[in-house]
Amino acid sequence: MILEVLKYPDARLRRKGEKVASVTPELKALSENMIETMYDENGIGLAAPQVGESVRLIVLDTRPHDDEGKPTTEGLTELEAAVQQPIVLFNPEIAVAKDKTQYEEGCLSVPGFFETVDRALYVEVNGLDANGQPVTIKTDGLLAICLQHEMDHLEGKLFIDRLSFLKSSKIKKRIEKHGYPTAEEAAEERSEARERRKAAKETAE
Ligand code: NI
Repeated sequence: MILEVLKYPDARLRRKGEKVASVTPELKALSENMIETMYDENGIGLAAPQVGESVRLIVLDTRPHDDEGKPTTEGLTELEAAVQQPIVLFNPEIAVAKDKTQYEEGCLSVPGFFETVDRALYVEVNGLDANGQPVTIKTDGLLAICLQHEMDHLEGKLFIDRLSFLKSSKIKKRIEKHGYPTAEEAAEERSEARERRKAAKETAE
């Protein structure tokens, strides 16, 4: 079943997720619906608060797709490729976070906006899998970034909260005033942002 993905500034996105005591059939069904919703939205991760459920549950699948649309491990880091995806993770907790990286993030709850966010390069995350069994995921690459992004949602935090005050307020005001850009406007915005960064980098050099 495809679920509705809430968008900023929906107050439900600000609620903290509650720890699950055990993985009930209802929670397992929720995780399956979240995976279906994530694929339907072409997302690489989804957290329960984004579908209005205040529980500590995230789902992820950062694998790229080949020409036939099948998931592949091509282009993934060795660690990332070793993790079986899609991932269902209840009660995720970061045990280790090492080194720094940056990535241009987006979010299904803030569609059309892409900004560079600082994250740890390598993480080890403990949690429970879809069957309630303890698991540890050790990874870097896009999967590590995505894990940190989704875990933020469990704290009621969005990637736009991690930007400078100026950038963050500008985006929030724009959404509150004008709503979300169309898919076309979003694509344009994304390529403009790339150009700006390229120009800034060239100036710096
Ligand atoms: Ni998100």
